[in-house]
Amino acid sequence: MGLYSKHIFPRLLDWSLKADEFRRLRAEALATAYGEVLEIGFGTGLNLYHYPKQVARLTTIDSERMLADRVARRIGRVAFPVEQMQLDASGRLPFDDDTFDTAVSTWTLCSISDLPSALAEIRRVIKPEGHFIFLEHGRSDDDKVARWQDRLNPFQKIIGVGCNMNRRIDQFINEAGMNITALDRFLLRDAPRMLGEMYSGTAKKG
Ligand SMILES: C[S@@+](CC[C@H](N)C(=O)[O-])C[C@H]1O[C@@H](n2cnc3c(N)ncnc32)[C@H](O)[C@@H]1O
Repeated sequence: MGLYSKHIFPRLLDWSLKADEFRRLRAEALATAYGEVLEIGFGTGLNLYHYPKQVARLTTIDSERMLADRVARRIGRVAFPVEQMQLDASGRLPFDDDTFDTAVSTWTLCSISDLPSALAEIRRVIKPEGHFIFLEHGRSDDDKVARWQDRLNPFQKIIGVGCNMNRRIDQFINEAGMNITALDRFLLRDAPRMLGEMYSGTAKKG
């Protein structure tokens, strides 16, 4: 498992999440990012090229450090400053309350083990007038599909190194005390239905 999760999975992830359709969705979702931005679950830095000019600075946090050299090259190509941080075992975000104009999460809420606590932390560090941008896959609204997602989730967690395919993303965000201000539900093109149920939107601190 060590070899797979440390060496093979990051390469698979980087390759699969940079397809054209993913790039299009990233650019669309990140268009409203501005000011001081926090990206949770930075992965291999695939959002970097899609941030708009209004971004003053990007702080990233992840529980892992994947493909460090490749990520450093990507950071070197963007015009805004980027600070990369690693989450410690407490799961607490190392920032004061009300620090960020924008928090971003793309294909990450599926992988966070204690999602309610992580979302409470995201809410805490966003400024009252700030917003949270999310672009995530999750639970289907179709009961039949959702039941299959529940059945297959234990296998997905192994193959996807902790990725859950059956989380109702909007419900988690609401339960963390944020107000969803926009939500688009759609199916990812050319993806298996189980993994392609998308939740894209924005939320306010509430
Ligand atoms: C499927 S990858 C997505 C990477 C990236 N957001 C993207 O869109 O390409 C999920 C990422 O979430 C990270 N992650 C998992 N648990 C986390 C946590 N508690 N806090 C921050 N990042 C976490 C993983 O290490 C991984 O980099």
